[in-house]
Amino acid sequence: MVKHKVLLLLLYFFTCQFALHAAAGDTIHVITQNKASAEPPYDWPRDSLVSQNLKTWQDWKFGILIHWGAYSEWGVVESWSLCPEDEGWCVRRGPYSQDWYTYKKAYEDIRKTFYPGKFNPEHWAKAAHDAGMKYVVFTTKHHDGFCMFDTKFTDYKITDPASAFSKNPRSNVVKEVFSAFRKEGMAIGAYFSKPDWHSQDYWWPYFPVLDRNVNYDPAKYPERWKSFQKFTFNQIDEITKEYGRIDILWLDGGQVRPANTLTDEIKPWLGKHMWIQDIDMPAIAKMARKNQPGILIVDRTVHGEYENYRTPEQQIPSNVPAYPWESCITLGDSWYHTGAGEHYKSLNWVISTLVKIAAKGGNLLLGIGPDKTGEFAPEAYNRLQQIGEWMKVNGEAIYNSRPLAPYQDGNLCFTQSKDGKTKYLFFLAKENETLPASVDLPAGFAGKVSEAMLLGHPQTLKIKIKDGKKTVIIPASYLKTMASAPALVIRITEK
Ligand code: GLC
Repeated sequence: MVKHKVLLLLLYFFTCQFALHAAAGDTIHVITQNKASAEPPYDWPRDSLVSQNLKTWQDWKFGILIHWGAYSEWGVVESWSLCPEDEGWCVRRGPYSQDWYTYKKAYEDIRKTFYPGKFNPEHWAKAAHDAGMKYVVFTTKHHDGFCMFDTKFTDYKITDPASAFSKNPRSNVVKEVFSAFRKEGMAIGAYFSKPDWHSQDYWWPYFPVLDRNVNYDPAKYPERWKSFQKFTFNQIDEITKEYGRIDILWLDGGQVRPANTLTDEIKPWLGKHMWIQDIDMPAIAKMARKNQPGILIVDRTVHGEYENYRTPEQQIPSNVPAYPWESCITLGDSWYHTGAGEHYKSLNWVISTLVKIAAKGGNLLLGIGPDKTGEFAPEAYNRLQQIGEWMKVNGEAIYNSRPLAPYQDGNLCFTQSKDGKTKYLFFLAKENETLPASVDLPAGFAGKVSEAMLLGHPQTLKIKIKDGKKTVIIPASYLKTMASAPALVIRITEK
């Protein structure tokens, strides 16, 4: 086991992986670099309210990330088809794809037809809440710059008369989504893209667009960049001032960052010019925390003071990070709703992913993209309901839990209560595998076990001891109805 852990640690330090993006058909795009690169140190918050909120957030364990925008009308990847990089996730499809300028115009005109007549965020919120999710992160503005809220600083927004949905009484989508989830008692996260591919101060029409980055040198045209900083500041001010209590400001677009935060892994994102795009996070954070005392700020991938937790994408860290973190992973094929053929991951996959993440002390932020009518796919609702049924019985081993060595050992995972008095052992069933009639306790773990009980089956379990090895017997009466459950959880009391 020790050897195993050392190997994992070595692997982690020498293989720094980060997912760039998940697009239709592909699951993840991973850039693997085999260079030795230790992670920059984590910066613990100094504001006591932030520290406190961070601890609370760590106890939630499970949330939903919703990507929804005008692109949902076409069922294309969020924003990325506008980005002229020769990458799989930027490919343009459809009648306007032959030339970039025509395509950009057509994409920006989607709002003229995007009318999600079934928009009913209460439905999303109830499904997420019943699945046991404790918070939502919603795309207020993605890289394409289309605002799903009633901003004063651009008319490229859902509430503008040029957008079809502006005629709907619920057109201020962000307001509706946040209040629907709040009514379910869930916490609120605002996804906001720092890059804005609609803003003339980010993609200046004077120059052709090169890639995902700003298309002029901010050092050479400081006034233009200042105006972009101001625009970003103003929009974040609106979101954190006019939309009720916001718990998390989730900032995407890691190329927008100061020079001193550039690492070898990040440099390739900045394109050939490597123009520095410092958005002035100190000013943004100060304002956001004035509007929302103690708000968590997640300046993704930038590290340092404004990244209160880290967000590995489409993956579970191979180590057990010593800082707060959240894996964001899609339930379907991608962040956006890809269409009728979309494949949704199984119940077993979701439960085992959530358990593996909790066992390493993280949170799972599960991605679902509503369709153009404003609904989740029936499969997504169905999966959320199944997750909820399992969580109702077994949630006590997930929420408020702390990691417990050996964390994960094959299909066994471990957590403990905060006070360390109660320990939990999970058996994760593989796809179509039935739950076993007995579970062997790993040597390091079994020593002090005195009593074991199955969650959802309040009856002390038999523990057989043979050659110093302890085996928990799973009652036949339990297996009769539960054999096809995705995982079982044993609560363990020690002597
Ligand atoms: C990546 C994608 C972006 C998506 C985000 C969600 O950064 O590029 O489109 O919003 O992941 O985690």
